[in-house]
Amino acid sequence: MNYKLLVAKALHEQIGETLTVEKIFALLEKPKTAEHGDVAFPTFILAKEFKKAPQQIATDLGEKISSIIIEKIEVVGPYLNFFLDKKIVSAAVLADVLEKGEHYGDLAIGENRNVPIDMSSPNIAKPISMGHLRSTVIGNALANIYSKVGYRPIKINHLGDWGTQFGKLIVAYKLWGNAEAIDAEPITELLRLYVKFHAIAEEQPELNEDARIWFKKLEDGNEEAVSLWEWFREESLKEFNHIYDMIDIQFDAISGEAFYNDKMDEVIDLLEEKNLLKINQKASIVDLDKYNLNPALIKKSDGATLYITRDLAAAFYRKRNYDFAQSLYVVGNEQSNHFNQLNAVLKEMGLPWADDMQHIAFGLITQGGKKLSTRQGKIVLLEEVLNEAINLAGKQISEKNPDLPNKDEVAKQVGIGAVIFHDLKNDRLNNFDFVLEEVVRFEGETGPYVQYTRARAMSILRKAGNPTTNSEDTYTLNDSYSWEIIKLLQEYPTIVKKSYEKREPSIIAKHSLQLAQAFNRYYANSKVLIEDAEKLARLALVQSVATILKEDLRLLGVKSPDQM
Ligand code: ARG
Repeated sequence: MNYKLLVAKALHEQIGETLTVEKIFALLEKPKTAEHGDVAFPTFILAKEFKKAPQQIATDLGEKISSIIIEKIEVVGPYLNFFLDKKIVSAAVLADVLEKGEHYGDLAIGENRNVPIDMSSPNIAKPISMGHLRSTVIGNALANIYSKVGYRPIKINHLGDWGTQFGKLIVAYKLWGNAEAIDAEPITELLRLYVKFHAIAEEQPELNEDARIWFKKLEDGNEEAVSLWEWFREESLKEFNHIYDMIDIQFDAISGEAFYNDKMDEVIDLLEEKNLLKINQKASIVDLDKYNLNPALIKKSDGATLYITRDLAAAFYRKRNYDFAQSLYVVGNEQSNHFNQLNAVLKEMGLPWADDMQHIAFGLITQGGKKLSTRQGKIVLLEEVLNEAINLAGKQISEKNPDLPNKDEVAKQVGIGAVIFHDLKNDRLNNFDFVLEEVVRFEGETGPYVQYTRARAMSILRKAGNPTTNSEDTYTLNDSYSWEIIKLLQEYPTIVKKSYEKREPSIIAKHSLQLAQAFNRYYANSKVLIEDAEKLARLALVQSVATILKEDLRLLGVKSPDQM
């Protein structure tokens, strides 16, 4: 039950048809401090209709409104401040959470419709970057959130496994490469070759022509080109998969750009049919002047296709294959121009579903405020960062809890969870600085803090002998510390909905932090385990907190160890 809604209904009964329940609901505010109650209604909007001063309206309404969930109403100037009945609300909220468990907050918005989520999508022969990590964890969290609100997410890894750079790589390998080095350290070696190609091509530009020819051969299915490409791809994927295993994120489809090699003609034909292709210095372009965008280059003068050509084919394929309700692209905001162009070309083609595609952009991970870069071979190896995080977590666990069983597994869950949580706790469009020591702290706004809080709740339940609490019993609480928790639990479905509507996992992360903080304040100020009439109610509260913290973390893709 939504208590704000009950207040809105009680108000509506007195206000009458001037304002609908929905309108009143939208006007309700959350008072700045708890002393001002739980819900506030500003009366300004009624002044004209009622031909009275807002203060007077507030006073009049305050006398008339009643509902069993409202304990008292205070009139402060033009505001009506409502104080909810803690006992009634806490009993109802706890019963609801206990009954639904991890399904508390599930919503039926999506009607089971498909939502492909293009995510991660690193480039073959290059290390997977922190940016790709962001795309992976944001995409994964959105998939979880979408599925919680009733959609069917389809996680697609749109690998960068096609394009002129593979021509360059083949040329470089044939000139300077050897198989042993690639087998030993595939990505390092392939990156070395790629960097060397660029350095030498500065002096010998004819290498670029060779590269172009080799990519053309690849596109035309030349056996040598294809088998080298397959090998590079295979070796790179092995390394990527290692990272995906570490963070425990899986895909429903790994169909990279190459997958669309034989699916682009159809799009190009269609563009031609609709008279949208223009020839400019032998290249084929779509003019996007009226969208205020640069023309989209669809085909180079030698017939080679481009990144956007493959994205057009992918968009068609996804619409046809999944009949999507929405189609998401979780890609850094530096590519917004690309996605604007993609969208504009589809609009030009007259495809209404272009509007269902959304670029889920995100900011950069920086170090000391500066952008991390892979150019010139300077790279931050993700695997090293993750291993470091696990180490740091392990050290802290050993200090706090030296006898913990399966310490290594917990260190992994905490270290990796810390990195993921840090990535998701800020609005996705913000840039953020990555300082590992900050990320893996057990205090402050971190993943380990939330995990630790939940483990503490679990330990209280163990100490109490894991009592059976159930939704049939009535658990009433009446103190201000538990009330803060009850409000956060009560809000949960709204929080889930908001994080879906804004495609913003940080809303879930912030909720988990608030809930963890409220719980720690509660725990510091109450004796949960003393024997009195409220003991079971307190334990029901602890159990509900543990359930929702775990669910928050699950949505983010973070594990919840029961002990740490
Ligand atoms: N491989 C690209 C990159 O690393 C990202 C691909 C994003 N997805 C897409 N459908 N364009 O920059």
